[in-house]
Amino acid sequence: MASNLYKQKVLILDFGSQYTQLIARRVREAQVYCEIHPFNLSLEKIKAFSPKGIILSGGPASIYDNSAPMADKGLLALKIPVLGICYGMQFLTHLLGGVVAKAADREYGNVVIRIEDDRDLFHGFKKGAGQTVWMSHGDRIEQMPEGFEALAGSKNSPIAAMADKARKYFGVQFHPEVAHTPEGPKILKNFLFRICGCEPTWTMSSFVRRTVRGLREKTGEDRVICGLSGGVDSSVTAVLLHKAIGDRLSCILVDNALLRREEAREVMEVFQEHFGMDLHLVEASEHFLQHLKGVIDPEEKRKIIGREFITVFEKKARELGEAKYLAQGTLYPDVIESVSFKGPSATIKSHHNVGGLPDVMKLKLIEPLRELFKDEVRQVGMELDLPRELVMRQPFPGPGLAVRILGEVTHERLETLRSADVIVLEEIRGAGLYEKVWQAFAVLLPVRTVGVMGDERTYENVIAVRIVDSLDAMTADWSRIPYEVLGRISNRIINSVEGVNRVVYDISSKPPSTIEWE
Ligand code: XMP
Repeated sequence: MASNLYKQKVLILDFGSQYTQLIARRVREAQVYCEIHPFNLSLEKIKAFSPKGIILSGGPASIYDNSAPMADKGLLALKIPVLGICYGMQFLTHLLGGVVAKAADREYGNVVIRIEDDRDLFHGFKKGAGQTVWMSHGDRIEQMPEGFEALAGSKNSPIAAMADKARKYFGVQFHPEVAHTPEGPKILKNFLFRICGCEPTWTMSSFVRRTVRGLREKTGEDRVICGLSGGVDSSVTAVLLHKAIGDRLSCILVDNALLRREEAREVMEVFQEHFGMDLHLVEASEHFLQHLKGVIDPEEKRKIIGREFITVFEKKARELGEAKYLAQGTLYPDVIESVSFKGPSATIKSHHNVGGLPDVMKLKLIEPLRELFKDEVRQVGMELDLPRELVMRQPFPGPGLAVRILGEVTHERLETLRSADVIVLEEIRGAGLYEKVWQAFAVLLPVRTVGVMGDERTYENVIAVRIVDSLDAMTADWSRIPYEVLGRISNRIINSVEGVNRVVYDISSKPPSTIEWE
């Protein structure tokens, strides 16, 4: 439950909307701390959280469904401002005695609403003017509860926004949290600052100060170990801890043979030489390759890599001596106990992390980033002077290149893939696209095709290039990379990577495909 570190908090109750996480991000961007909890959070917990405001999210249900999600109505007795969004607004209406009904037409997409009241929620808007918003609803408000007035309307939803100003209850039928509502952030800020009286105090520099102090208090004189992968999350975790407890932190980097070219050396350079950390490289390439010998099934690869990581990590940790804590770079999206985030995608691939370690090693977990979204982690990284290349690094899967080599993972195939991977990244960087795309990488396929090189027939490997755009990896689309860039990638790979005579570009979106090939 919420840390009481943050005095000004907003509570978001999740009724299952795919946009709930976006609400939280918009609130955080307005520099107000907020947390997402399931719609049925108990009244005691709501009181203990002591929010300055409550936002009720949207959701797929109709208020008249038998299984419609209902929050504890006691929250209305708390004298805390409430903003209901879409289903949240309908729930509020239902609870307060208004009437919700099926709209004649389902409204979906961009809609223009007319602002009737330019105070409070629509402060700074022009009365009588049209405003583009994003709607996605079947039900609508037919009759407002007593004490409410309409603030805005659209053709299909005469009550597109409403308020009971005395009690500070607000409702909007549209989604202010999505990018398709251009002035959405302004509406949310009006709720946070004008209606709830929040102040913009949630900044990453204040987070760093508070967290460093908290980590010192928590660890006392004890030692902490941390697995470092060179990814953003573990890097920021390590640097935060290093700032807090210096030499009482030991980091372990496992070279499992599945890293990109020069990756282990680069991580050692940044953290050992630049930050002066106690960092131990465990060279375990042979160990991992032995265990992966003959393995083709993707899930089996993941399980072996996860298990062997624990074995190797644990052995090194014991060598380093007594530690009481294990630090992990868990982020907020992994922590949210919510209806809309733990969807089926969470279990499609067994994501490998070091979550199994503490049980085995009797270590207590420290997760300093568990309240943060990825973009906030990046800001913390900047705040801590981590090099920009590292902070802006694209995600890289825990099982590394093993899930980008279809079929058996061998030394030779790893070398082939690494050489192609370097070229993809160099060209993407050179074209100024590295920070624009979500991920760009090469995949080595288990088929060979015929080609011709000079006068000779060749029969060699195929590299697939995967470059995707995404906001959160839950959905993704293939990047519309300029043909010239794709052409250069292809030419360079075929000309310089031994054993490859064909390059293809992956034009699948997620869903139904996934980002990684295994
Ligand atoms: P998929 O392939 O499921 O990937 O669309 C979504 C995001 O997760 C990364 N990914 C992984 N990360 N362990 C990880 O730590 C894994 O086993 C794993 N599989 C995929 C992937 O790179 C993408 O960013």
